[in-house]
Amino acid sequence: MYKAFIRPILFLFDPEKVHHFTFSTIRFLSFLPGINWLWKRLYTITNKKLEREYFGLKFPNPVGLAAGFDKDAKLIDQLACFGFGFIEIGTLTPKGQPGNDKPRLFRLKKDKAIINRMGFNNQGVEAAVKKLKGRNSSILVGGNIGKNKITPNEDAFKDYEITFNQLFDYVDYFVVNVSSPNTPNLRALQDKGPLTEILTKLQAINNEKDKRKPLLLKIAPDLTEDQLQDIVEIARDVKLDGLIATNTTISREGLATSKDKVAAIGVGGLSGKPVRDMSTQVIKYLRKNLGPNFPIIGVGGIMSAQDAIEKLDAGASLLQIYTGFIYEGPELIKDINKKIASL
Ligand code: FNR
Repeated sequence: MYKAFIRPILFLFDPEKVHHFTFSTIRFLSFLPGINWLWKRLYTITNKKLEREYFGLKFPNPVGLAAGFDKDAKLIDQLACFGFGFIEIGTLTPKGQPGNDKPRLFRLKKDKAIINRMGFNNQGVEAAVKKLKGRNSSILVGGNIGKNKITPNEDAFKDYEITFNQLFDYVDYFVVNVSSPNTPNLRALQDKGPLTEILTKLQAINNEKDKRKPLLLKIAPDLTEDQLQDIVEIARDVKLDGLIATNTTISREGLATSKDKVAAIGVGGLSGKPVRDMSTQVIKYLRKNLGPNFPIIGVGGIMSAQDAIEKLDAGASLLQIYTGFIYEGPELIKDINKKIASL
């Protein structure tokens, strides 16, 4: 239904306008009597074989919504009806910020891909907390946190601390995002020194709470093997609860879209099919070096149930999708869960 009727219409319009339009439409439709029930019936699969337990949380199925889609936690109750096992909000920064100039979101249809340079546009952590307080769904929610564009890297920790503390009572796990290519210099925070400092400080705050929350780190697919080895050491030293691999890539290799069109789009993070194998390679490396039990959330280019199985075979414990959700719709979540339950 989505691919045959809805997507062809949506894809005629500007991607960011479509994003807002879809949000409003889903919210509007959700007020119609019976629609949430219908969505759940259409897309949610309940099966013991899908259940997973990681870092003290029980996931009804392993397919989550990746960060960036519902940055401000505006649509959790509705998205929970589409069959996701968990939803990650954010990236949230302490203060709201507009993000980069538009246009900043582009489809590469031939590649089943998206390029974005949104730049952490979000309404700030306080607004998100208000939304989270008002939600009805009990779906697991992760809080993905970042720093404001104007905050210099030396002070980045303060931003992570603010969002961590403010969100603490309202999310089930945290993700430190230092891997977005769209905030100038953010990725420099992936270097061993600054990253260890940020994570150690956050863990210290976390461990002082009555009941600490799982703390994960989201990494880029563009790291060298040395950098990945650093991540492995940090994960152990800082006792991270898990890693999310991966964010979007800055690479433009092997695209079917013409070079001119890609050049005209300009900078940004590429997601969808072209990032699939890069992200799978990162997951394989992490699994090999972190042992069989370390939780890894695999994300990047999952466009089909087969892609999801490949990620699990590479060592992913849980999965997330974003671009696949845009191209394939909620049927993809169902297809993946059906496939996993059939194994
Ligand atoms: C993202 N992604 C993202 N990740 C993150 O940690 N914080 C964010 O704010 C965003 N924002 C964002 C916006 C848009 C428009 C896209 C397409 C992606 C990255 C996303 O969560 C995911 O890691 C990558 O897109 C790779 O997965 P897919 O899209 O190939 O399934």
